[in-house]
Amino acid sequence: MAIYKLHINGRSYQADVEPDTPLLWVLRDNFGLVGTKYSCGIGACGACTVHVNGQAMRSCTLPVAAVGTQKVITIEGLSANGDHPVQKAWDEVDVAQCGYCQSGQIMTAAAFLKSNPKPTADQIDNAMHGNICRCGAYHRIKEAVKLASTKA
Ligand code: FES
Ligand code: FES
Repeated sequence: MAIYKLHINGRSYQADVEPDTPLLWVLRDNFGLVGTKYSCGIGACGACTVHVNGQAMRSCTLPVAAVGTQKVITIEGLSANGDHPVQKAWDEVDVAQCGYCQSGQIMTAAAFLKSNPKPTADQIDNAMHGNICRCGAYHRIKEAVKLASTKA
């Protein structure tokens, strides 16, 4: 075990965990940031996506020891009042079905739109295709990403 100091959502956190503990476990079990979801656990579904220094990353395969001083943003810290353009578009389109994949979808979309604010439909497809939605809400997800690109 070792003590890791992490910068998450603009705050400092500390966890005494094994170095290979996935960031996802630390977020959820140590810090109570349960908006980030566990699904496949092998980097294959995107449910656990967070931002690390602005990049969308899968926290289930990221060891806490590799995070260092990088700035982590989770769905809880994406905006102060749930009013990030992606979150507003999600509400407007009423994207969620069961909701389980949604924080990962939103975090992926937010990082993507930051690097590509006015994407084409194909670029949206490419950016979002690795995020699995068991409910099959793909059409609404893509519609909301497109809508968010008009709001930013
Ligand atoms: S839970 Fe991390 S990619 Fe599926
Ligand atoms: S909304 Fe249910 S898994 Fe995506």
